[in-house]
Amino acid sequence: MSTDPNIFRPVAEPQVIEGAFNEDQHARMLDVVRKNGPWSLILAQHFKSPEEVVATTSGSVPEGFTPTWDMFLSPVFRGYFAQGHTMLHPEIEDCFFNTKFLDLVRGYWGAAYATPENMLFNIQGPCSGGGSPHVDATRFRGISYQSTPVWLMNTMVKSGLFKHWQARKAQVITWYYKGKIGGGFNYWPEGPHKEPKQIHAPMWSRAVVVENEMMFHTAESCGPAAMRRPEGLAINSLMEADPDNAGGWRITTDGQVIQQIPEEEFRFLVHWGADIFMDFDELKRSLDHSDDIGHEQVFDMLIADLRARGLTFEVPTDPMTDKAFIGLLTRTYDPGQPAIFPPEPEELAA
Ligand SMILES: [Fe+2]
Repeated sequence: MSTDPNIFRPVAEPQVIEGAFNEDQHARMLDVVRKNGPWSLILAQHFKSPEEVVATTSGSVPEGFTPTWDMFLSPVFRGYFAQGHTMLHPEIEDCFFNTKFLDLVRGYWGAAYATPENMLFNIQGPCSGGGSPHVDATRFRGISYQSTPVWLMNTMVKSGLFKHWQARKAQVITWYYKGKIGGGFNYWPEGPHKEPKQIHAPMWSRAVVVENEMMFHTAESCGPAAMRRPEGLAINSLMEADPDNAGGWRITTDGQVIQQIPEEEFRFLVHWGADIFMDFDELKRSLDHSDDIGHEQVFDMLIADLRARGLTFEVPTDPMTDKAFIGLLTRTYDPGQPAIFPPEPEELAA
């Protein structure tokens, strides 16, 4: 049981650029992050159960095995600058309604139109990254993250059954990281079974133009190994500016500080995402909802496909939350994990 790994190739080779934002824009974005925390874990924001994480990270759950949060906890935190085409912090509006980025993503797709859709940031200190390649959540006409869990949208992509409805998207991902150990970006542009590529840190406003819904990628491990998994890290841990250290950060669990992160180990990622329309017809189809898909049709098509594959299973009463059914979908539509990894970054000699 598997799915074609060649589904996962971006529309074009990712394009690396320097100086994505100017220093003033960077300072204002960082200011928003420092003033508006604390921020919660990516995991906590996007997943209701460890099974959903497995469904999204492309892994396969052996039958009868129960994954736990502990298997996936990773000290990377997230917040939103903009959602649903709307900037939440007017002081950085110019970073979102970004003519330069719009030009880049139209060029990347060879498309007539693009519009900014969301903008988010990841913040972290030392962290191990190599083990979690994934594709980002996508969206379909009629199906978006506002109404649908991430794992289901990723299952839809992996099945290859819903390409007709899949939104065209592109991102500009920008990094600020001065650390000396790792901290780059690993990606598999030829598909998960082929050679990876790497964008190297340290980096300051270095960015890549990508289609991350269709390309496996992950952060490279960064920072001193001994700091990468702070003791006391839990699904409800938070990260915020450290009032006791200028430029520093701290992670708390239930109000207790479990780690302080100095400025030089702080990694800041800004994700800017756009909707892409190849031509006016495609834009119109999206706006007038004349060709949407709904949850019922999605599950009908998945169930029909599972049956066509000769699988026997109980049709769940609530397929959206049924763990056995989620596990079956994950095992069936498994494109495989990337097998070839760049070497782990080396620790510096003391
Ligand atoms: Fe990602």
